[in-house]
Amino acid sequence: MYLYNHLPAGALLSPLLLCTNTWVATASATSQSFNGCNQLTAAGLQDLVLLPQSDAYVDREASYWAANVPLHPDCIVQPRSTEEVSRVVKVLAKANGPVALRSGGHTQWAGSNDVHKGVTIDLGRMTDVTYDTHSKLASIQPGPRWGDVYQELLKYHVCVTGGRDGNVGIGGFLTGGGNSYYAGLYGLACDNVANFEVVLANGDIVNANATSHSDLWTALKGGSGNFGIVTRFDMYTFPAKNLWGGIRAAARSKGDELAQTMVDFTNDNHKNPEDAYIINYTFNPGSSSDILVAYVVVDTNGIVNASAFDKILKVPVVVDDVKTRTMANMANSYLLPSDQQQVWFSLTFKNDVRVIKRAGEMHDKLVSELKGLIPAGNFTTQCLFQPIPTLFAEHSVQRGGNMLGLDKVKENALLWLITGATETPEQQMIMREKLTAFSATLEKFAESKGLTVNWQYLNYVDETQNPLKSYGQYNINFIRKVAAKYDPSSMFQKKVVSGWKISKVDA
Ligand SMILES: Cc1cc2nc3c(=O)[nH]c(=O)nc-3n(C[C@H](O)[C@H](O)[C@H](O)COP(=O)(O)OP(=O)(O)OC[C@H]3O[C@@H](n4cnc5c(N)ncnc54)[C@H](O)[C@@H]3O)c2cc1C
Ligand SMILES: *[C@@H]1O[C@H](CO)[C@@H](O)[C@H](O)[C@H]1NC(C)=O
Ligand SMILES: *[C@@H]1O[C@H](CO)[C@@H](O)[C@H](O)[C@H]1NC(C)=O
Ligand SMILES: *[C@@H]1O[C@H](CO)[C@@H](O)[C@H](O)[C@H]1NC(C)=O
Ligand SMILES: *[C@@H]1O[C@H](CO)[C@@H](O)[C@H](O)[C@H]1NC(C)=O
Repeated sequence: MYLYNHLPAGALLSPLLLCTNTWVATASATSQSFNGCNQLTAAGLQDLVLLPQSDAYVDREASYWAANVPLHPDCIVQPRSTEEVSRVVKVLAKANGPVALRSGGHTQWAGSNDVHKGVTIDLGRMTDVTYDTHSKLASIQPGPRWGDVYQELLKYHVCVTGGRDGNVGIGGFLTGGGNSYYAGLYGLACDNVANFEVVLANGDIVNANATSHSDLWTALKGGSGNFGIVTRFDMYTFPAKNLWGGIRAAARSKGDELAQTMVDFTNDNHKNPEDAYIINYTFNPGSSSDILVAYVVVDTNGIVNASAFDKILKVPVVVDDVKTRTMANMANSYLLPSDQQQVWFSLTFKNDVRVIKRAGEMHDKLVSELKGLIPAGNFTTQCLFQPIPTLFAEHSVQRGGNMLGLDKVKENALLWLITGATETPEQQMIMREKLTAFSATLEKFAESKGLTVNWQYLNYVDETQNPLKSYGQYNINFIRKVAAKYDPSSMFQKKVVSGWKISKVDA
């Protein structure tokens, strides 16, 4: 028997869970009458509870982005307001059994946002997006998706630092960091939250901002779900302008040339903070039988052919979807397909072309090996690099600081992400084995050249990685201290099992 590390001790599961994501539980249920679902009903909250037989339950389990993450809880509870979140938390704090939390349900690893034998708190019905013309803050509940937020805020001609894919959720993104096309101008998305409204483990509702519970405000910027449930994010806004940007793709043979443009762009990002760039070695037989080097360019001021992209735009392309458009249009134009089995790994490196070139070569080999193991059309890959210039952390420090520890990284860096999508759990196992090895090999290569940066992005990494540990001892201690202060019963360490837990960090 294995002990699946995202379930509490005692919830013993068949090894099948690890091998195929089949949710075969062998644990005997804890005392039925004190289980969370019964207790919610006993407290008069039955209207918020979805049971497995209902269509609504089936729809919500199907609404997760990755096919490998729904774990089929005993019930789902859907509060509609902050007060209802508070009532739900008070009941579940006293009930038996584990609890999971989800906002958008976009995280790709099983155990990040759902639970098998237990209750999942689903914030998907809290979808308000409002704008206050006086404070110029946008108030966003955790339940909508970024595409909805941009569309709604367009009515007021403002925008926020949100996700680049319109389907991405709010709560995980904003508490985990949040990289947007606006990071060069305003820093990471978490640094643009002026105030978090939070339901604590005892049901209290507090505001965490620069002048009230400021330790909790700082901790929630990157410290994820370790402290409470955020029920509203009040974000700084800026005028919504049309941007110029989109996806283009070049032949694989242009890879080394584009790799050098990424390094140069990253080093110059402080001169052109309104510009964003991502490069993407990708195999997607739905659009091309060859590996392509796709890239995203964005000028958030809407300047066509902005000069920061001069060298990039000289490289011939086979796909070109770059145009002048709104952020809402951009976000809703590139939705990564849902309902597939996902495996992601992410690391960070010094801004050096050798790492990109090596990753590109390794990706060629990966695709050719996968072709012999998984039927055509059943897998896609992306091997992405994006800039993490020191500029981002400078914005963060100016805005009050966050938990990520990027201010300790003194050189421009590259954030690397590899994603592998497959159709079946058996194929996912093959993908997992390949990407585990890929990540380890690329890390060894970087080590051998002195190019590692000991930092992991919580919102991208695999469940076997350790992002909170990479935030550094000072921030680990800070997260621990704030978690203990606002959650003295350790509800968000022990009972709420989803996501990254500071109590599991051994440092
Ligand atoms: C297709 C795709 C595109 C992406 N694009 C980007 C991108 O452009 N930039 C980027 O930075 N990241 C991106 N990501 C990663 C993304 O930031 C994470 O997946 C993020 O966790 C999604 O947020 P969510 O609300 O859907 O999280 P969920 O999966 O719903 O929740 C995950 C965990 O987050 C915590 N959490 C969620 N809501 C709350 C809350 N209200 N209060 C307290 N804790 C909470 C909890 O620990 C929860 O268990 C992308 C992911 C995908 C799949
Ligand atoms: C900070 O919290 C206090 C106390 O709730 C509140 O009065 C104030 O308006 C909040 N500030 C912001 C920017 O939301
Ligand atoms: C990577 O490129 C593929 C193929 O063009 C595209 O579908 C995908 O959206 C790109 N991914 C990102 C994150 O830009
Ligand atoms: C932008 O560049 C493309 C080719 O790279 C060219 O066709 C187009 O005319 C340019 N547009 C402007 C406004 O400079
Ligand atoms: C996956 O592979 C199977 C077997 O070769 C094939 O029938 C199916 O169409 C493929 N699925 C996709 C989405 O291409």
